[in-house]
Amino acid sequence: MITVNNGVFHLQNEENSYLFRIMDGYPEHLHFGGRVESGDAEALAPIPGCGWGGSTLYDERSNACCLDIFPLEWSGSGRGDYRESPVELSVEGEPVTTDFRFSGWEILKEPPASELPISRGQEILALRLLDREAGLRLTLCYGVLPTVFTRRAILENLSGKPVVVRKFMSACTELSGRFALHTFSGGWIAEMQHNVTPVSMARICLESTTGASSNRANPGFLLASPDATEAAGSVYGFNLLYSGSHYLSVQRSLQGITRVLQGISPANLEWALAPGESLETPEAVMSYSGGGFGGLSQRFHTYVNRNLISPRWQGRPRPVVYNSWEGCTFDFTEARLLSLGKTAARLGCELFVLDDGWFGTRSSDTSGLGDYNVNLKKLPHGLKGLGQKLEAMGLGFGLWFEPESVSPDSDLYRAHPDWVLRDGLGRTDLLGRHQLLLDLTNPAVRDYIVQSVGAILDSAPISYVKWDMNRHSCALGGRQHAYILGLYDILHRIFDSRPEILLESCSSGGNRFDCGMLYFSPQIWCSDDTDPAERLRIQTSLSYLYPPSTFGAHVSASPHAQTLRSTPLSTRGNVSFFGCLGYELDLHELLRVEQAEVQAQIAFYKAHRRTLQYGRFSRGETDGGGILWQAQTEEETVAGVFHGLQPAAPGYERLTVSGLDSQKRYRMESRPQLLRVGDFGSLLRHVLPVKLNPHGFAISAADSRYKMYDGAQALTASGGAFAQGIPLAPRFSGTAYDPQSRTQSDFGSNVYTIKEVSPDEKH
Ligand code: GLA
Repeated sequence: MITVNNGVFHLQNEENSYLFRIMDGYPEHLHFGGRVESGDAEALAPIPGCGWGGSTLYDERSNACCLDIFPLEWSGSGRGDYRESPVELSVEGEPVTTDFRFSGWEILKEPPASELPISRGQEILALRLLDREAGLRLTLCYGVLPTVFTRRAILENLSGKPVVVRKFMSACTELSGRFALHTFSGGWIAEMQHNVTPVSMARICLESTTGASSNRANPGFLLASPDATEAAGSVYGFNLLYSGSHYLSVQRSLQGITRVLQGISPANLEWALAPGESLETPEAVMSYSGGGFGGLSQRFHTYVNRNLISPRWQGRPRPVVYNSWEGCTFDFTEARLLSLGKTAARLGCELFVLDDGWFGTRSSDTSGLGDYNVNLKKLPHGLKGLGQKLEAMGLGFGLWFEPESVSPDSDLYRAHPDWVLRDGLGRTDLLGRHQLLLDLTNPAVRDYIVQSVGAILDSAPISYVKWDMNRHSCALGGRQHAYILGLYDILHRIFDSRPEILLESCSSGGNRFDCGMLYFSPQIWCSDDTDPAERLRIQTSLSYLYPPSTFGAHVSASPHAQTLRSTPLSTRGNVSFFGCLGYELDLHELLRVEQAEVQAQIAFYKAHRRTLQYGRFSRGETDGGGILWQAQTEEETVAGVFHGLQPAAPGYERLTVSGLDSQKRYRMESRPQLLRVGDFGSLLRHVLPVKLNPHGFAISAADSRYKMYDGAQALTASGGAFAQGIPLAPRFSGTAYDPQSRTQSDFGSNVYTIKEVSPDEKH
């Protein structure tokens, strides 16, 4: 809801308020946080007293007429506010100051049209500011959604001269309080490392300059009070609907106001605004919770699921996929794919994704990108033939593309060498993964991609697309924003008219995991790292900002290609459950008992899919050093307990489940997961009555067929007892195998379901 009373602007949603007013023509920020009333404006306003000596005054009558000491909704340079400005402009090569003053407001039922992704279903307040002398109009758009507020800015050149925009932020947000900044940085296969930096008077910047939102600096971040926990304390969350180079800065002023700027990275930005033209920023989203990190991430999850994801996919179950990449890479034939498809379908998969390698001369990553014509040597019946055969097995058909890049060794490059990005000197770009980036600012390039990808999509029964992007360009320079606008244009043109296609985006894993891509693709491949120990960390970090329904999470072969670590198959499944489950390995290399475990995993996932994809997700830990993930709906809770290295003789461990009714009774059951006989190695000699060679035929045969259950546990207790902590089955402690113990080696885990039982039900 948006109200404007006595010059006080008040945005309210389910739990938050955002208040500002106009002070001498400048928008003065009053409050962002828990709910307050419009009538609180005066009480919440900062009291500058007699002002501060040495200040630059916008009105000489009072030392308090000084923009430097007020929290502001926007600030130009040159009117006495020396803090970092959200805008920098130049005219005829000279930097100019700006002085935007209030000129009016309007409530809009629809956001102004945009080339950029905009959150869905918001009510908008458009605040108009004018710099009369410069001939510039600034519109600050504030959006209200149930669990977040949004902001963006639009600059119009009303003057007769061209203006060059060198910096133009989406939002300038001022907060009171002490904060720690939580950011998520990393690199390929090492995405989303959670860094915590205390906010001080030294400015902290987090910036991506690669042209992508990047794995180096996710655009989402949190500002939390230093003592905030998962369940208590003040936490602010911010994100940006943008997939290109972005910028964030945070700095506390002497007066104790923390200024937060977020928007497009100003590095290399040189956007010429001709008279009459305008420039809009990407949309920023922000939310607050007094209920700790858990409260904040829940608000972001609701936002992404209800106001960002395409309406067609909101709340819809995401299919269990089989993806050909890690199992086959480029080495496949139709017969091999179909045989894998048959096994995948038997084990319960619902969709088969043919990854890289199906087109042109693409039999390695050195050639073929850009030539989207089917390789008939590998697929003699084409994509249509393959898709129809997979459909006959009961599987949907998904296909990989990487349309933004081109291999120098491709027909496309030979025909259009001028279609790749070059810098201003015409210098050819450096290669990354043997490929170049197409110039999406060129309409002919965009038309080619729309036409070639569209033709393939219409040629076969394709219901899922994996849209990959595996390189950066050193030649993007000032065109990075135009490139991203080009990308969004292409995505609209291909997918708006094909809404039934589920789009998964990917960029060498999580190199473009951002709200801009989520607007188009309901799910994103989190990381090329499929080692569950790494995925635990990556998915935990992602969950602060994004819901599990957006995580592409696959089980792969062990030892893992990215870490050479060996992990139990059960844990690979248990981690992937908390996301969009898939399998990405050669299923035929699995032992029979492992195939049985995969089949059981998929059946379990399908039975609890709504909870795992859309339930209320929270993070925690056990008193035994385990990481705890919990997903909860009205009907049930699914909890996962995950361990790292196995200690000798681990002590007792309790599972604490939150959100249950303390008066009701609940049945907890562990997921029946399977162990391999071979996991015991030469220990078998101690537990079997006969002496067998652990590497001999009898053990291999038993290993392949014999089912050994792990950590079977079932009990009934009150919600109160679950809130206190329920003792879990003991972990392996060097004695013997017992199906009722958790026979976990390193990186062991178990998953539990907790469901209400009626008072008279006996267990
Ligand atoms: C990238 C992706 C992988 C896979 C390969 C194919 O690395 O992240 O999932 O699709 O490309 O070349």
